[in-house]
Amino acid sequence: MSEKIYDVSADWAKRAYIDDAKYREMYAHSVKDPNGFWGEHGKRIDWIKPYTKVENVSFAPGNISIKWFEDGVLNVAWNCIDRHLEKRGDQTAIIWEGDDPSESRHITYRQLHDEVCKMANILRTRNVKRGDRVTIYLPMIPEAAYAMLACARIGAIHSVVFGGFSPDSLAQRIEDCDSKVVITADEGLRGGRKVPLKANVDAAIAKIDSKDSGGVDWVVVVKRTGGKIDMNPTRDLWYHEAAEMVTTECPVEHMHAEDPLFILYTSGSTGTPKGVLHTSAGYLVFASMTHQYVFDYHDGDIYWCTADVGWVTGHSYILYGPLCNGATTLMFEGVPNYPDNSRFWNVVDKHKVNIFYTAPTAIRALMQGGDEPVKKTSRKSLRLLGSVGEPINPEAWEWYYRVVGDDRCPIVDTWWQTETGGILITPLPGATKLKPGSATRPFFGVVPEIVDADGKTLDGETSGNLCLTKSWPGQMRTVYGDHARFEQTYFSTYKNKYFTGDGCRRDADGYYWITGRVDDVINVSGHRMGTAEVESSLVAHEAVSEAAVVGYPHDIKGQGIYAYVTLMKGTEPTEALRKELVAWVRKDIGPIASPDLIQFAPGLPKTRSGKIMRRILRKIAEDEPSSLGDTSTLADPAVVDDLVQNRQNKK
Ligand code: WT7
Repeated sequence: MSEKIYDVSADWAKRAYIDDAKYREMYAHSVKDPNGFWGEHGKRIDWIKPYTKVENVSFAPGNISIKWFEDGVLNVAWNCIDRHLEKRGDQTAIIWEGDDPSESRHITYRQLHDEVCKMANILRTRNVKRGDRVTIYLPMIPEAAYAMLACARIGAIHSVVFGGFSPDSLAQRIEDCDSKVVITADEGLRGGRKVPLKANVDAAIAKIDSKDSGGVDWVVVVKRTGGKIDMNPTRDLWYHEAAEMVTTECPVEHMHAEDPLFILYTSGSTGTPKGVLHTSAGYLVFASMTHQYVFDYHDGDIYWCTADVGWVTGHSYILYGPLCNGATTLMFEGVPNYPDNSRFWNVVDKHKVNIFYTAPTAIRALMQGGDEPVKKTSRKSLRLLGSVGEPINPEAWEWYYRVVGDDRCPIVDTWWQTETGGILITPLPGATKLKPGSATRPFFGVVPEIVDADGKTLDGETSGNLCLTKSWPGQMRTVYGDHARFEQTYFSTYKNKYFTGDGCRRDADGYYWITGRVDDVINVSGHRMGTAEVESSLVAHEAVSEAAVVGYPHDIKGQGIYAYVTLMKGTEPTEALRKELVAWVRKDIGPIASPDLIQFAPGLPKTRSGKIMRRILRKIAEDEPSSLGDTSTLADPAVVDDLVQNRQNKK
């Protein structure tokens, strides 16, 4: 572990909202008196009817219930748009940078208002009402923001599905929340390549229709590339045509604080992806407050988060947090290495970006391309850098700091999850000394606790499993349609606490170091993948009898997907079959689930009761066959020798 410490510079301590003394004072207040603290900060958003109650939370077994500001009434889209119009109508809300470097647009708050109202009116004319679910399957174009905010405006619940997911994955997500409307585009454009979004929607709906269980009534199609697609005249409508028929005025729906805002599906250690449900007020208060303080956002700053709106980072830190704060937020359609490795930094220079927030996997990939593509750009506008999605290794941190930030910009390494709605453990740039690789200290109201396998709380310098003992306003409220699963997943391992699924170390200074997932979740390039999902995809192939999937260290992705596959009797383990299985999973779930390595295994290590011993599979995948530990409890210890012999990750 790196022991280097970076002090807060004098000018940062001075310019920032929060210095160290202020952090300590506010943090103490937030945990001693959550009602007082959040009661005050809840006022940062506009209320149609102010709240009189603040926190109403129970983590008690059998009664998990999370409510914040529950008697308040508000509208999220109003807070992100309308309330800014008087002062910022002509200010840029969204800078859109296309995949092709020659394409970009500035969208003012006034234009955003008009576009969102049009989209909202299209939905209203299609009979979408408050509480209805709308699935959004769009590329990184402004219409994605319009669609999300239009739902918020009329009280519909959006479920954004990342454009990289397959038709099957999309179908599963449409069905789980019973969406009657899907908003998509003809095609997406990434790195010069087209993504057949509408064709995927058609395939997903065909799959749903074949089961005769509900179905999709309307598909709104945004024209992005003009590529050839099929339009079903009774179901599909062009967005640009429908937009001609509606006005740019659309009154906001009055929503209760705890009315749902969105569902976002995320992978867990078992079963199908869970619909993480976030509600309106607490989420918005938390997303906007963390955006302001963590990135020290001030009026006029140009802020860029490189995430896709298909992930929670895009929800909280491209859209809701920044727009609620009246910020200028940059939305990027492309990828870091197209047309070349200087793209990010060219965009920074082109739009004079001050605050830049990306994922370690992008940093590591660019680092491999050397310093030159960075150094030939100016980056003078940059003031602050951020990292999110997975642990950042100290080497990548140092490169980001030195080469990208010219030793001038603090890095905020922000730890959080889809479930947490916003950033929970992070430095504040004017307050926190930095240690490369550590997410440092908890945000206001956040109380981390490290426990051992038996649930015993560990004090001081220690390591174990990371739990949170108190609620915060941005916390997820339930798994959509399955509250029992919510309790089971997050509150049953350790009673009366939220269990994050992450391992963590706390050092002598009280800094937190997230060490990665301790459950059967793999973090591939900052995206979560459940091992069970990949396994069930593999065993659905006719040649596969059994599969076990684990993560292994990957230079760029952080973790790669390593699959052990036992074939049906008589099936030859060929290279062609290996390729076929990779393509199979890719098609079944999406490119992010493609196995990096497949090992054909005559047998898997099992206990006498038939349980697969993943600990052993992980060690072999990590190329550490000498530390397999005790294998004597295996039903057939000999299978291990073959696995070790034929391991795919030999250095
Ligand atoms: C998991 C959550 C947070 C939005 C993007 C990912 C890992 C996230 C960090 C960080 C170490 C991190 C954790 C967490 N993670 N940020 N700064 N340092 N690990 O959201 O898909 O819900 O994944 O990502 O393992 O549990 P997600």
